[in-house]
Amino acid sequence: MPASMSPGTIRNPDGWWRGASIYQVYLRSFADGNGDGTGDLAGLRARLPYLSKLGVDAIWLNPWYPSPMADGGYDVADYRNIEPVFGTLAEAEKLIEEAHELGIRTIVDVVPNHGSDQMVWFQEALEAGPGSEARERFWFRPGNGDGPPNGWKSIFGGPAWTQVPDGEWYLHLFAPEQPDFNWNNPAVREEFLDVLRFWFDRGVDGIRIDSAAVLVKDLDSVEESYTDHDGVHEIYREWRRIADEYGNRVLIGEVWLPDQERFALYLRQDEMHTAFNFAFLASPWEPDALRDVIDMTLATHVPISAPATWVLSNHDVTRPATRFGRADTSFDHADRKHGMPSDFELGTRRARAAALLAMALPGSVYVYQGEELGLWEVEDIPDDLREDPIWARSGHTDPGRDGCRVPLPWSGGEPAFGFSTGTPWLPQPAGWSTMTVEAQLDDPGSMLSLYRAALGIRRERLGDGVMTWLPLGDGVLAFTRESGLICVVNLGSQPVRLPPHESILLTSGPLDGDLLPTDTTAWLSS
Ligand code: GLC
Repeated sequence: MPASMSPGTIRNPDGWWRGASIYQVYLRSFADGNGDGTGDLAGLRARLPYLSKLGVDAIWLNPWYPSPMADGGYDVADYRNIEPVFGTLAEAEKLIEEAHELGIRTIVDVVPNHGSDQMVWFQEALEAGPGSEARERFWFRPGNGDGPPNGWKSIFGGPAWTQVPDGEWYLHLFAPEQPDFNWNNPAVREEFLDVLRFWFDRGVDGIRIDSAAVLVKDLDSVEESYTDHDGVHEIYREWRRIADEYGNRVLIGEVWLPDQERFALYLRQDEMHTAFNFAFLASPWEPDALRDVIDMTLATHVPISAPATWVLSNHDVTRPATRFGRADTSFDHADRKHGMPSDFELGTRRARAAALLAMALPGSVYVYQGEELGLWEVEDIPDDLREDPIWARSGHTDPGRDGCRVPLPWSGGEPAFGFSTGTPWLPQPAGWSTMTVEAQLDDPGSMLSLYRAALGIRRERLGDGVMTWLPLGDGVLAFTRESGLICVVNLGSQPVRLPPHESILLTSGPLDGDLLPTDTTAWLSS
């Protein structure tokens, strides 16, 4: 077989991200290679063939750096190394190489807003005391009377300031173990440019930029003033110059911004390549809301030639099979609807239909590990095992995000379901025996079979490009793609007749004659 046809060929070398299918690996929970109950690089390397057969173009790994894990690794103690529980830098290099051999690119997560309180810089700052250069890398301030410098609140709950023994306070938009960097300081800027070079030198193909819109702050403001300051763009322009020096490396922003005009600024030609589409992720399962979000997304992206992204889940949000089975199907960080009853059968039907919708839209698509297995949100984790800092910082009112981070079930009839030979760091539900990769692999009706089929068709004939709406009635979202694929999603209460077509490529559930039932998607060839 000529090299160009081998399964390991990197597709679409120029602008590969534009129509890519990207799989999010939450390393801690993917696969454990050494039996300590936590996922690791050895486990991931052993399962790369699974991802290759699934049909993804790239993997994005959540932070894999040395970390005390106060926020699941988003508290980074050393940006140029690997957390020992996950493996070694040499193993990370091997992973990047082996993934490339299978035609899979690697995207790493860089966390520029804050580090860990255990990092050398922060320890130096504590030691050096008020007024020192070391403190200038963070936001240290004297208090206001007995209290903190201002009244800002942490995104995880509680105050955004913590006092150190000498009386000064430091800012942390997230947990106290995550001190914010001072991006006005050139030393911080230089440090991160060097971190980017470090990982690009090791062959990574992209950087996911954590909390990308909150780096620049105005501390004199009484109101919280850190989201989307203009000054942030200068930072990403510098980052883009580095990415361009290497060529074909991509910057992907975590930018939660409802204002589309402001959002688009991050995607200018000399800034990020793409950013996550959280409006789509948060949308309720309703035809008008989804149509609006799709129109809005394309209206934002098309004029600036940036590919849209389509995301149904990630490590911070409720699993779709649970969310779509609730009376309120929208997602909201401030109200996770934990415990709101969910009809799993209904949720699963909709999650299947939603997956085919997301994968048919023009742009890149993200699949969060376990989404392809149709896992549910685990809502009955015992309180004393919960790890997400949101749980403690909300005064035990918000259980947080552990429920979507439970280790994957691979095989067998009981926990740990082939994830580990030890005890998984979060307990898996006994009911996942029917959800394992092994149980789903040869079942044509499984979620895994649907994802494999859909990603395969997507690879052949979808990606970035254009779509045109087909008017098929109120409850129906239907559109054609330039490759001749028609996607029809029935979100109405009645079955609908399929439009004229040559063949049926894939459906998310059984058809009723030539009628498409409620909460079902069909991919047709015109
Ligand atoms: C991002 C991450 C989230 C993390 C937060 C703080 O939103 O996705 O998991 O807790 O940033 O780093």
